[in-house]
Amino acid sequence: MNFSYLFIILLLFINNVLSYGYVGHQITASIAQKFLLPKVREHVRELLPKNANGNLYPIASWADRVKFTPKYRFTSRMHYITAPRNNPPDSCTVIYTPGKIDVLNAIHNYTNRLDPKSNLDFWSRAEALRFLVHFLGDLHQPLHVAAKFRGGNGAKAIFEGHKTTLHYIWDSRLINKHIRELGYKFTFSDDIANNFYDGPFFEPYVKYIINLMKTVWKQEVAEWAVCNEEVEYIFEKETQELLKPNSILFENNNKQTHFEVNSRREKEKYSLNKKQTSVSCPEFWAVPLNRLNCQIVWKDYIPDTELSEGIYYERIKRTRIVEKLLAITGIRIAAVLNSLLG
Ligand SMILES: *[C@@H]1O[C@H](CO)[C@@H](O)[C@H](O)[C@H]1NC(C)=O
Repeated sequence: MNFSYLFIILLLFINNVLSYGYVGHQITASIAQKFLLPKVREHVRELLPKNANGNLYPIASWADRVKFTPKYRFTSRMHYITAPRNNPPDSCTVIYTPGKIDVLNAIHNYTNRLDPKSNLDFWSRAEALRFLVHFLGDLHQPLHVAAKFRGGNGAKAIFEGHKTTLHYIWDSRLINKHIRELGYKFTFSDDIANNFYDGPFFEPYVKYIINLMKTVWKQEVAEWAVCNEEVEYIFEKETQELLKPNSILFENNNKQTHFEVNSRREKEKYSLNKKQTSVSCPEFWAVPLNRLNCQIVWKDYIPDTELSEGIYYERIKRTRIVEKLLAITGIRIAAVLNSLLG
């Protein structure tokens, strides 16, 4: 049976509340693959199935699908963290508990499993790659790192006249809206069907995001992936070389950070507490991501009101937070893969 049909049938019955929407995952994977070292791209290619065109991308698709199969039901708690002391917008904290089943531990698990040093068999590493890309995406949807009302799944809202939830708005609706605003007429069936292929419908959006990286965010981009000075990121050196022709992206090396993710202060605070040895540091990245729930996601949320306009939406527009999170995710996926497989 054609797997994609099977998937569409499944989708009609399952309300996807578990992860960043399909399109979100596709976009982060598309951004990431632009920053992979050639050697790493080849390695990734080997670990992935081919689509109809013999093309292997986008790399995020697989984990989106398998999570619905009974075999992978055990991963359902790996898409988010529960943060008991969280009460956004008033308090936003992340507590990392090693060994707990959550997105932070899952990212560590699949980072370790993908590492060639793990000596795991081909299939286990192929599986790890897909889950890793998927969970790094989920981590950057702020509601996946805040527990309140089941990560906003229980928070009713209206978006562009439709009843929905805060969670779904941040998983999909904002992204879909912004793709549409760039001129593409986005339909629900695109969200389902096109994601099996290299959906051209989000390419203008990816270009728009890359362009922001080269201009508005160019001084911060190289800092996004860092979690610990001791881990040597191949990303930072060789990817810069790789991008030489349009290297304004990394022109500035003076280590300035403008975005709150990875502020110097936090980095120092963090390294006092934990010795980071992994190339992924989700528990560190999660802190400022979680704080976005206080600053933006839950701020000015009023149940059952329209959130695609007014003070709530203006803040989203002004901060470009949706695009920035996608960009940061893409860069981190690339950095982790380059460091592991480069
Ligand atoms: C790590 O991944 C493997 C393979 O999917 C899984 O069987 C195992 O339960 C995971 N371990 C943790 C602690 O999540």
